[in-house]
Amino acid sequence: MLIRKPADIPTSEITPEAVYQQRRTFMGQSAALIVGAGLSAASSRVSAGLQEDDEITPEQIVTQYNNFYEFGTDKSDPYANAGALTTDPWTVSVSGAANKTGDFAFEDVIKGLTPEERIYRFRCVEAWSMVVPWMGIPLKKILQQFEPTGDAKYVAFKTLYRPEEMVGQRSFFSSIDWPYVEGLRMDEAYHPLSIMVTGLYGKELPNQNGAPWRLMVPWKYGFKSIKSIVSIHFSERQPVNTWQALAAHEYGFYANVNPAVDHPRWSQASERRLPSSIFNPNRRPTLPFNGYADEVAELYRGMDLRKNY
Ligand code: MTE
Repeated sequence: MLIRKPADIPTSEITPEAVYQQRRTFMGQSAALIVGAGLSAASSRVSAGLQEDDEITPEQIVTQYNNFYEFGTDKSDPYANAGALTTDPWTVSVSGAANKTGDFAFEDVIKGLTPEERIYRFRCVEAWSMVVPWMGIPLKKILQQFEPTGDAKYVAFKTLYRPEEMVGQRSFFSSIDWPYVEGLRMDEAYHPLSIMVTGLYGKELPNQNGAPWRLMVPWKYGFKSIKSIVSIHFSERQPVNTWQALAAHEYGFYANVNPAVDHPRWSQASERRLPSSIFNPNRRPTLPFNGYADEVAELYRGMDLRKNY
């Protein structure tokens, strides 16, 4: 596990992306969390669920091929437009079924919590995928600070609403009811794989990837990983998420990666691993729970996953 925050790591110690690429981390499907072998303390990492042929996706793709509708609908829009976002100061408001609620400065919320490097497979509902070296803090550690009560069965998150800086929120054509919202069941949120991401490739999180922090739940479709979070709400009732509100027959609350349940408009049986082109689509089969079934299937025991998509 990484012991230091990205800001504390001298630039000379940050592993260049080319080195990341060379060091393919292999892992069997059944293995749980492992610490990458043969790496120095500064670049030690936790790789979870990786398959033998998984390679870390080039940084340029992860940071320039994005979904962040607040900055436009094209994959290149977030990189082009997210520079306008002010991320400091950043306030997080906490409400609902918890003992400690109110407005908190972002730096106070993450104070004393050390980001760890987590290399995760990442699968978008649109059927493209990546392997990303996130820097993040276990979500459980963040949420426990607010002392959720027994009534907290779910946790809901909201993205910033600031149309002056978010060009997509000003768009006349957007059908999204801003702000973007998402949620998890508390046991999903407390699962050790769920993290709040504060960095990428050993560096600060770029705005287009959800600065200053965004959710990452690797066994779920990418739309669950809400970006630029300003609100955390604990509730007894299951919240509605943005894509579910737009098209409930296409997007559910759970959104667990599931090759057996197709999207009404396309198959989910396989995915395009980026980089991908028409000449080399780089297709591969999609795995149940995105390769994390051994770790998370238990959370859904007895549930009909066709109904609870
Ligand atoms: N969060 C917000 N606030 N707005 C968005 O449009 N898009 C989601 C998710 N989080 C989105 C969001 C979708 S559909 C995906 S696939 C991922 O962010 C993309 O994350 P990435 O751009 O870092 O790859």
